[in-house]
Amino acid sequence: MKELQDRILKDGVAMNEDILKVDSFINHQVDPELMLHIGQEFAAHFKDQGITKIATIESSGIAPALMTAQCMGLPLIILKKQPSKVLNDNLYQTEVTSFTKGTSYELTLSSKFISENDHVLIIDDFLANGEAATGAMRLLRKAHATIAGIGILIEKSFQPGHEKLISQGLDVYSLARIGHMEAGRIEFIE
Ligand code: G4P
Repeated sequence: MKELQDRILKDGVAMNEDILKVDSFINHQVDPELMLHIGQEFAAHFKDQGITKIATIESSGIAPALMTAQCMGLPLIILKKQPSKVLNDNLYQTEVTSFTKGTSYELTLSSKFISENDHVLIIDDFLANGEAATGAMRLLRKAHATIAGIGILIEKSFQPGHEKLISQGLDVYSLARIGHMEAGRIEFIE
């Protein structure tokens, strides 16, 4: 998606060979117009596939996932990183480890919002090692829901996530694929 790639080149900051800072338009301050266009792009790519719900992992995936849900006329489920302190009945849970952040969390979803009749599109901001997407799929499959595909804003194609998901036959649609990065330089691949 040219608009996202141009924005990454303009406002993204490659900190080193691994980490891209996008906190001025995705992670911290959010550009709603860009998020709307991203939602439209995902809606066009994943249309007519019988998708019943959009899912994302809190927190940076919420803005683009909500716009996608709006464009497709579907509900958004936010997979929580810890169980709710007030509502903890009938939860599906699975542990996810983030290599980038060196942390683990208990991905959580109430059984009220998912069933075997659901065909789910997962949206997230970054694809690095694929652990978040894999954990989200594991959680949704605990409810016997099926996975329609995965929509990613920024894929770091030099990390193993893309290959890991593609090798399972999944439809992974990444709007910006970074083939190489170093401080001050970002290169995309098609
Ligand atoms: P994986 O899910 O693909 O395996 O990736 P990994 O666990 O290694 O990292 C996931 C977390 O790290 C996500 O944040 C993701 O947004 C963030 N991340 C990964 N690479 C980058 C990067 O190059 N730049 C930035 N800014 N973030 C990166 P999270 O823990 O889910 O937190 P949140 O931001 O969604 O709250």
